[in-house]
Amino acid sequence: MPKTKVAIVGVGTVGAGVARILLDHGDRTAKNAGATLWLQKAVVRDLTRQRDCQLPDGVLTDDLNEIIQDPEIQVVAQLMGGVDQARTTMLSLLEAGKDIVTANKALIAEHGPELFSRAHELGRSIAFDAAVAGGIPIITNLTQCLTANQVTSLVGILNGTSNFIVSKMEEDGHDYNDAVREAQVRGYAEADPTMDVDGSDAAQKLAILAHIAFGAAIDWKKIPRVGIDSLDPIDLQFAKELGYRVKLLAVARMTENGLELHVSPTLVKIGRPLAEVRGAYNAISVTGDQVGELLYHGLGAGQKPTASSVVADMIDTAVGRTALTFRTLKLFTSHNPDVAICPA
Ligand code: NAP
Ligand code: HSE
Repeated sequence: MPKTKVAIVGVGTVGAGVARILLDHGDRTAKNAGATLWLQKAVVRDLTRQRDCQLPDGVLTDDLNEIIQDPEIQVVAQLMGGVDQARTTMLSLLEAGKDIVTANKALIAEHGPELFSRAHELGRSIAFDAAVAGGIPIITNLTQCLTANQVTSLVGILNGTSNFIVSKMEEDGHDYNDAVREAQVRGYAEADPTMDVDGSDAAQKLAILAHIAFGAAIDWKKIPRVGIDSLDPIDLQFAKELGYRVKLLAVARMTENGLELHVSPTLVKIGRPLAEVRGAYNAISVTGDQVGELLYHGLGAGQKPTASSVVADMIDTAVGRTALTFRTLKLFTSHNPDVAICPA
């Protein structure tokens, strides 16, 4: 069986999951990519740290140049967090002729237009399905499956950590801080969970979806947002007594005044689909003018579901997706003048 050499930058929660799929399920990548995705290198900062996966000798390194200078490595999964160092690394990898897959929504929300433009200039691709809603293929659905539609609304639970914490507090009476710690141990939370609980992570994901679905150039920092860190446990109890659950909803909806965007804890009637989304699950209701309402539901954080999306993108990338990057570039850079953001 032929091999396509690939690499990973960052072997944390997600990177270890990706390595496990590549190493344990080469038959799946071979079947779908026509060539086994062969893990050649995995770059980390600290070589002494214990990893959640067993890598073959010679794969782990702390030197990015081992990827950059190896012309046989075609596809790189960039799975480090943060923004500035991640941006520099992605640009270096693109310049070196690599196609990129990433799960880093902060990076895409902040520097998407620049990165897609550079990738296009260099004839390279960037795939990022894992950046929004973990295992749910929402980016692929919006960019490939729903292109005959004008999306009119997107309403989602986009942060698994917040949903996990609120579920734990509601169902098991957990203390807020204990629930945050458990989300960290399970690998749902960001390295700094502040962005999870204050609504920023959901706002970054909403900005990415709004770019794609509405052609709206959004600075995620301008999206009005309130996180679950402002909730009092008594709020959850009163909501339940009234027949509601509190969910951190991210909303992008076309209105007469323009595109309404916000992230906030919201009362959702018990029994409605979004009220029943528990733990680290995410859900997204998408309404298109042709298809009507679609509801996506699945694990939005954690090792396996996120790695599932990353490896699927690596397989598609190995097969070839530069035309899709051009389309994403257009979605990210050609602002639709008909879409006004409200309030302005
Ligand atoms: P993580 O567990 O903190 O792992 C990050 C990894 O990146 C670590 O292995 C770290 O190396 C490595 N790293 C950081 N800076 C580096 C550098 N300059 N050079 C080389 N390696 C570097 O993070 P994670 O949870 O896997 O998340 C990774 C990305 O995926 C983030 O952008 C996150 O937002 C996104 N994401 C996460 C999830 C999830 O459920 N966890 C889901 C979707 C998306 P060391 O181990 O040596 O420190
Ligand atoms: N920290 C993120 C979350 C990971 O909890 O949703 C998935 O993007």
